[in-house]
Parts: sequence; C-alpha cells; structure tokens
Amino acid sequence: MEPQFTYTTSDKATRYQLFISDYCRYITGENDEISVLANTAAALRQAFGWYWVGFYLVRGGQLALGPFQGDVACFRIRKGRGVCGTALAEAVTQVVPDVERFPGHIACSGSSRSEIVVPLIANGTVRAVLDIDSDRLATFDDTDRHYLEVLCGHLCQAIYGEDN
Ligand code: SME
Repeated sequence: MEPQFTYTTSDKATRYQLFISDYCRYITGENDEISVLANTAAALRQAFGWYWVGFYLVRGGQLALGPFQGDVACFRIRKGRGVCGTALAEAVTQVVPDVERFPGHIACSGSSRSEIVVPLIANGTVRAVLDIDSDRLATFDDTDRHYLEVLCGHLCQAIYGEDN
C-alpha cells in the first residue's frame, strides 16, 4: 500500500517540513517527469486539501497542461499570459492573494480565489510550473512560497537532474 500524506498539525511550516521530508523519501530513485509530477499533485492535495493542484509543462515555448488534481483546466497558456504564463516569462514565483486583481488572470474555474505559481527551473531554464489554486482569498504567503520553492528544487533534482 502506498503511503498517505496526511498530517494532524495545524502549523503550516511544520506541515510543509513533514511533507517535504516524507515525499522526497517516497520519490527516491524515480526520475520520470510525468510520474513524479502526477504523484506530487496527488500528494500535495492530500496533505493540504487545496482546490486545484497541478503542473503546466513547457512545450514549444508555451505551457501545456500536465498532471493535476482537480477540475478540468485549460490546455494551453502562452508565455506572459495569466499567472502561469507570467511565472514562465519572469522565472519567479507568483503569489496572488486575489485572482480578480491580477491583470490577465486566466479563470479556468470560477471557484478559484487565490493562487500561487512556482517555476521549476533546471540549468537556468523554466521546465514546468507548479500551479495551486484555493477557493479562499489570500491562502498563500511567504511560508508557502518558501517551502514550495524548496519542494520544486527537489523535484527538479529528481526529474531534470538539477535544481535552480
Ligand atoms: N489561473 C491560471 C490558469 C490555470 S488554472 O488556474 C488551473 C493562470 O492565470 O495562469
């Protein structure tokens, strides 16, 4: 039976620390991009209960929908468009407390209220982005940014052979 990534602590930083430790141990030895990202989306949603968790993969200079957990989402996002396309263009994490105030936000679902997008950077190049949507305002802060960037660094190491 596969592990369950469920935690009782209400402290967000502690939850991230436990998750990253457990999850990195779980993926040790696995390097397939789709396989690792698919289980990452599932494990993150299990641990944190967010509304939508998934990855967009860089394909031909734009983003194509990758493994995710949640409602049906848009297939393609052009570089510089929306929160995900901005993370690709700038290679910087985007924390959006209110999606309605982000110019050009792409509404895949009307239930999304706040969002964080973290680029996966290997050899100086963005290879994918982690996109997490919440159905509540202002869900994500610097703690989320910090630990999700740490997690994405580990993912890059595992699947692309290098982190940022
Ligand atoms: N809101 C994102 C689009 C992807 S969906 O949230 C899954 C954006 O503005 O890039």
